[in-house]
Amino acid sequence: MKILSTLLLCMCSILSVLGAEKNVTSTSSSSIVPGKFFDRVVIFIFENQDYSKVMKNKYFASLPKKHNGVLLTHYLATTHPSQPNYIALISGDTKGTKEDDKSDIERQTIVDLLEKKKISWKSYQEDYPGDCDKRMDIKNYARKHNPFMSFVNISENKKRCANIVNSKQLDEDIKNNEVPQFVFYTPDLKNDAHDTNIKYASRWFKKYLERRINNKAFNKNTMFAVTFDEDDGGTDNNKVYTALFGPDFHRKKNTKTDSKKYNHYSLLRTIEDNWELGTLKKNDKTAVPFDL
Ligand SMILES: *[C@@H]1O[C@H](CO)[C@@H](O)[C@H](O)[C@H]1NC(C)=O
Ligand SMILES: *[C@@H]1O[C@H](CO)[C@@H](O)[C@H](O)[C@H]1NC(C)=O
Repeated sequence: MKILSTLLLCMCSILSVLGAEKNVTSTSSSSIVPGKFFDRVVIFIFENQDYSKVMKNKYFASLPKKHNGVLLTHYLATTHPSQPNYIALISGDTKGTKEDDKSDIERQTIVDLLEKKKISWKSYQEDYPGDCDKRMDIKNYARKHNPFMSFVNISENKKRCANIVNSKQLDEDIKNNEVPQFVFYTPDLKNDAHDTNIKYASRWFKKYLERRINNKAFNKNTMFAVTFDEDDGGTDNNKVYTALFGPDFHRKKNTKTDSKKYNHYSLLRTIEDNWELGTLKKNDKTAVPFDL
């Protein structure tokens, strides 16, 4: 009996040593599903600005060059108002969206495709209180800018809904080297320029991004994509600023600008192609993926 318990004790301590060891190395990297162009995508989405106006802003204009990236000079938003653009970006279609009002859509999204391949995802929302809160407006959080909540089999699924988190969680995830492979980040109504302007948004974003982007746990093999949901309604073609970059983003091409005609479905399609997810058989099916 004594021998047995000593043996068990011994095994346990070996196991716990292994466990401890595992915690040091078992960061997200051990469960990373490698992609063709990147192992992680981080999307930051801003609000309602014309391409030309954003390009007059020093920080946004210099961002792709500063971080080894490419500026897409002919990227078109999908429609007006805001919400259907967000819905399009993750589901390949705007159908079922009630303008900016509460929408509860039954359709597949990128989440269905990611989860099939065990690729981790989270929607980081500034000012969002968590606990699958379904309200439309909470302080400077707006559900219309958090498309994940508008799909029934995310909002009605506890486990999936728990992947919609307050943005502060991102710092925890960076600290623990647990940043998911698909990151969707929505700044609040001030920081995203919705209730402010491009100058305000750029000041916030510069501070936010530059403090984090050189962290390996955030940037490793990562494509950062910065886009705007729509322009301010003042142009015919709804052209918006979009940049793809990252200190550890490895494109085959070295071009600083790309003038091909893209849209929100192109971003979706590029993510699908990256991990060979197939498509949602909506507008993503015919979309032109980015030339990486
Ligand atoms: C390893 O990490 C898990 C999850 O964070 C924790 O529950 C567990 O106690 C840790 N194990 C060791 C040996 O530190
Ligand atoms: C989510 O809903 C869509 C549409 O009803 C369906 O095609 C998809 O399989 C569902 N996903 C899960 C995990 O239930």
